Amino acid sequence: MAGFLGEGYLWVKALHIISVISWMAGLLYLPRIFVYHTQVPVGSERSEILKVMERKLFRFIMTPAMAASWLFGILLVLDTEAFREGWFHGKFLFLFLLMGFHGTSSKWMKTFQADNNTKSEKFYRFANEVPTLLMILIVIFVVVKPF
Ligand code: HEM
Repeated sequence: MAGFLGEGYLWVKALHIISVISWMAGLLYLPRIFVYHTQVPVGSERSEILKVMERKLFRFIMTPAMAASWLFGILLVLDTEAFREGWFHGKFLFLFLLMGFHGTSSKWMKTFQADNNTKSEKFYRFANEVPTLLMILIVIFVVVKPF
């Protein structure tokens, strides 16, 4: 199975990086919108605009980009047999946490959609750092391959 992508490998890797950039853009920006959302009154026009922004970002950018990152990432794993390597196990752990953040962001979004958010501005500012940290670790693991 290894090497089945042949010359197409670099194209799949390019598509992987494009999808990952789009996914990360959403993971980093959605909690930022939550920060703004905590600052506006429930039921206000601004709150309704932020709700639409959150919904569209999640549905039309983050979820499709996450699926594409997995699709191209899995093709790369099968082609390179990276699952045998230590750096990939590390990356996989961080990916698991990133997926958890993706799911949790969706839950937070739903509380805003229902005008039911109870978390503070400071909480979302802190949450914003989680995908940043995971992204830094993932890129170091995949590029430097320290293990
Ligand atoms: C969604 C599940 C993912 C899977 C299964 C996956 C898997 C892989 C694999 C097997 C490679 C080839 C690495 C090599 O052999 O050198 C790769 C490349 C890469 N991945 Fe992922 N990845 C995923 C998500 C991510 C995420 C979230 C990021 C960034 C935050 C990322 C960043 C990269 C980068 C920058 C490369 C290119 C590395 C290079 O060519 O030196 N990946 N990925």
